[in-house]
Amino acid sequence: MEVSDKILYMTANLPPTLTLTRPDDWHVHVRDGLMLTTVVPHTAERFGRAVIMPNLRPPVTTTQAATDYAARIMAAVPDGVQFVPLMTLYLTAHTPPDEVRRAQAAGIVAAKFYPAGATTHSDAGISDWRQITPTLAAMQKAGMPLLIHGEVTAVDVDIFDREAVFIDTELAPLRRAFPALPIVLEHITTRQAVQYVQEADWFLAATITAHHLLYNRNALFAGGLRPHCYCLPVLKRESHRLALLQAATGGCARFFFGSDSAPHLAKQKESDCACAGCYTANVAIEMLAQVFESANALHKLEAFASWNGADFYGLERNTDTLTLQRAPWTVPDHLPCGPDHIRPLCAGQTLDWRVHRPLDEPLAQTPSGLCCAKV
Ligand code: NCD
Ligand code: ZN
Repeated sequence: MEVSDKILYMTANLPPTLTLTRPDDWHVHVRDGLMLTTVVPHTAERFGRAVIMPNLRPPVTTTQAATDYAARIMAAVPDGVQFVPLMTLYLTAHTPPDEVRRAQAAGIVAAKFYPAGATTHSDAGISDWRQITPTLAAMQKAGMPLLIHGEVTAVDVDIFDREAVFIDTELAPLRRAFPALPIVLEHITTRQAVQYVQEADWFLAATITAHHLLYNRNALFAGGLRPHCYCLPVLKRESHRLALLQAATGGCARFFFGSDSAPHLAKQKESDCACAGCYTANVAIEMLAQVFESANALHKLEAFASWNGADFYGLERNTDTLTLQRAPWTVPDHLPCGPDHIRPLCAGQTLDWRVHRPLDEPLAQTPSGLCCAKV
């Protein structure tokens, strides 16, 4: 076969659409105010539900604050779009066990443990989880998941080792103290975390971002310093990315998608001291399709993005669908945000998959029962 024939043959055999149970995002930052109104539509148009991070300023530490925040998010959801924000509480050294009971009664799904100083707006977090033992006991009793930013903060620990050290020195004893507490180790980045979660029981799960699946730490330094690729936990070396990809595509139901989309104004990223956080809400599901396809695992995307998280949280899976089309598009350079702008990850790059919107041109009929359809 001639090379050009081969290319034609391969293209003809690529699926042109991918229809998934509507995915959920199990970890996203939507901020507040103008930023919130800018970013919520991106998440709401793609995901049925999203676990909303509480690291506002001031942090969302009470049930009342979380309920008010949910109303502001709902006000920014475009008309006709079905979306449910799953709210979380920010744990501080002063969160009382009663707050857990109030939160659960109000439908708040989880509480977040930020080691103080670990990341953006974590200064009100907890320096030692033993400070909130009664609150963690109340969560265990309620079956409310504890979401953990799993990095130690000690300055003498190399930044690339902070996740692995956290697992050994903090997470392992915490799990021994609370063996029936559901825990999500968030945005894992290392093969140590993959292995630890794989070997654990049903009470421990992990989220993985699209950017940690697609990029290794070289992306931070590609042709110069790339602040838009800087997030926490920081991108790691290729062997870790491959371990994450193996976990996401490997069928273990305790790995699921959390974008960790974390918008900052471009001027706060393109600065002497760049904020940590990649904005991916408008590209994450498309990035996932790309990286799963590169691993010949498009058929595994639905479990990772649409099923596993709901199953872990004990929620129904979504009943509607999201369709991606193989239709290359260029990610916009800038997303206006008032007088400023946000620069999304992959800005200016071409992605192979894009979200099909119902008002776009009609799609050819997709055979039912197939999540990855060749039409
Ligand atoms: C997040 C943010 O900006 O809120 N930043 C990030 O790099 N991921 C916080 C976080 O999840 O660590
Ligand atoms: Zn985050």
